[in-house]
Amino acid sequence: MCGIVGYVGYREAQPILLESLQRLEYRGYDSCGIATLNDSLTMSKDVGRVVDFAKNSPKIHGKAGIGHTRWATHGTVTSANAHPHLDCTGNIAVVHNGVIENFQKLRDDLTKEGHRFNSDTDTEVIAHLIEKYYQGDLKEAVSKALTEVTGTYAVVVLAKGHKDLVVARQESPLVIGVGDKENFVASDVAASLDYTDRTIYLEDGDIGIVSPDSITITNNGQTVKREEQIVPWSVEDAQKAGYEHFMLKEIHEQPKAIENTLRAQIPFIKPLTILGAESEKRLEDIMLIACGTSYHAGLIGEYVIGKLCRVPTRVKIASEFDPNCIALEKTWVLGISQSGETTDTLRALKHANSRGCPTIGITNVQGSSITRITEQVIFTQSGPEIGVAATKTFIAQLTALYSLALKMAQLDVKAQESYQTEFKTLPSKVQQILDNEEQIAEYGRQLAKCDNAFFVGRGISYPVAMEGALKLKEISYIHAEAYAAGEIKHGPFALLRSNTPIIAIAPRDNTYDAMLTSIKEIKARGPQVIALAQEDDEEIQQFVDIVIRIPKVDPLFSPFLNTVAMQLLAYYAAKERGCAIDLPVNLAKSVTVP
Ligand code: G6P
Repeated sequence: MCGIVGYVGYREAQPILLESLQRLEYRGYDSCGIATLNDSLTMSKDVGRVVDFAKNSPKIHGKAGIGHTRWATHGTVTSANAHPHLDCTGNIAVVHNGVIENFQKLRDDLTKEGHRFNSDTDTEVIAHLIEKYYQGDLKEAVSKALTEVTGTYAVVVLAKGHKDLVVARQESPLVIGVGDKENFVASDVAASLDYTDRTIYLEDGDIGIVSPDSITITNNGQTVKREEQIVPWSVEDAQKAGYEHFMLKEIHEQPKAIENTLRAQIPFIKPLTILGAESEKRLEDIMLIACGTSYHAGLIGEYVIGKLCRVPTRVKIASEFDPNCIALEKTWVLGISQSGETTDTLRALKHANSRGCPTIGITNVQGSSITRITEQVIFTQSGPEIGVAATKTFIAQLTALYSLALKMAQLDVKAQESYQTEFKTLPSKVQQILDNEEQIAEYGRQLAKCDNAFFVGRGISYPVAMEGALKLKEISYIHAEAYAAGEIKHGPFALLRSNTPIIAIAPRDNTYDAMLTSIKEIKARGPQVIALAQEDDEEIQQFVDIVIRIPKVDPLFSPFLNTVAMQLLAYYAAKERGCAIDLPVNLAKSVTVP
């Protein structure tokens, strides 16, 4: 959701800014721009991808600069709306990520005071407010400007006459990459991995001055020390490593993501240790909160926790979270977010905190906001995920949720061992599906011809179907819907045609017979049915057109394997259609606006 970068040091800023912006492009990619400071500010911006901008934009000089890749919120995609934005004098340049909620009022007031605006963005008011308050001290002016602003922001400011960058954060991510006689600023650590693995994560309310050899941060007027941390990812982790797309690379990294996340620390869970005991904080239920793909992981988690732990468990889409639906202190709230920055999820967790509920975060990003607002954190170990469509982070979220459920469950030793043994076979079984890639690719290419598709599943496979449909629509732009297989006859049957493929997820669990019934009912209406079925399932092939064989596994773990097969289907359908797989139209990987 917009990526911002900054550089101060001894090198030319432009190439570093452009390189860093390309690493952040997954956050937004409708337009981009940079500004550098020599004797005066020079700016260059345009609509389109950073890669084209990097090729075509004029050389601009300076050893300090800022840059931005945009995902439009206020104002359409035009060069004027691209960041950076300048004040009236052209001496102050601002890049911003977030949403200024009171921008219209500020803009009206500033206009009355004589300020002239060149864009439709909320961001531009920040540049004008800084101009209004500027009396030689840039940080002071930024500080005063931001007191007038309500909303969320990560801001980097570059101004004529100042060799430093001024940075500020409120609910939108901002990190400082610490170098030697140079420093970097970015929305996330991936941007400066080429240059440094030393990072400082800013916190809400922080305002900082970043110069080539010093970083000073204040919060509420007081100087604060933010510890430097080493990023656990390498540059290679954030490169394509010979794959055509990041998404394909990330699909192939899933065996490793499971293995590594299996080794992750599952925290000591306070409420569960007192489950059933006399206590004021007795756990009554668990609520999982998430958005998008993470929400689907939550739905599967609900099923697994419910089955293994017998604790009432609910899942809420974070943007639909209503603080009134939690029992004070007795609902244990678990937020799932690969980025750790999704505004809706963070807001729901803050509500839960304010109501005294114990909170846990599951995230893939060290230092992300979710790690600061939850009591305990489980880090999935996927490495950086660059493709906008989540793949390996989803599989790692499942790994974390299953590990948590097994840790919480009061199973006898034999049952616990049996689940753990099955769990450990998953990386090699996922690998078997990847080894069968070419066959699935062929079915994906066939899928590319359709305009609509349905994914159906029952029980634990229903959220898996939802994830399959989401992957297909996100990257191939084929309209895809997921249905609980038993529900498809209540309406969607009217849409079934011979060119409407149905992808049916049919593990050998207690829903299998009912699934076969649904498949027969669907088939009788003409569509092609592609079944995802266990490798030794001889029965299903007589009722469907295509069977994708899935290695045999305890059905509880089938979501891992079925998901990987569906990711490949979606990937090859999208590739056949010539889609921009890693950067789908209108989507962003990290959604930091409500
Ligand atoms: C965006 C991404 C999705 C992701 C969702 C939630 O929409 O494109 O891939 O699932 O945000 O993100 P989170 O970081 O909270 O998991």
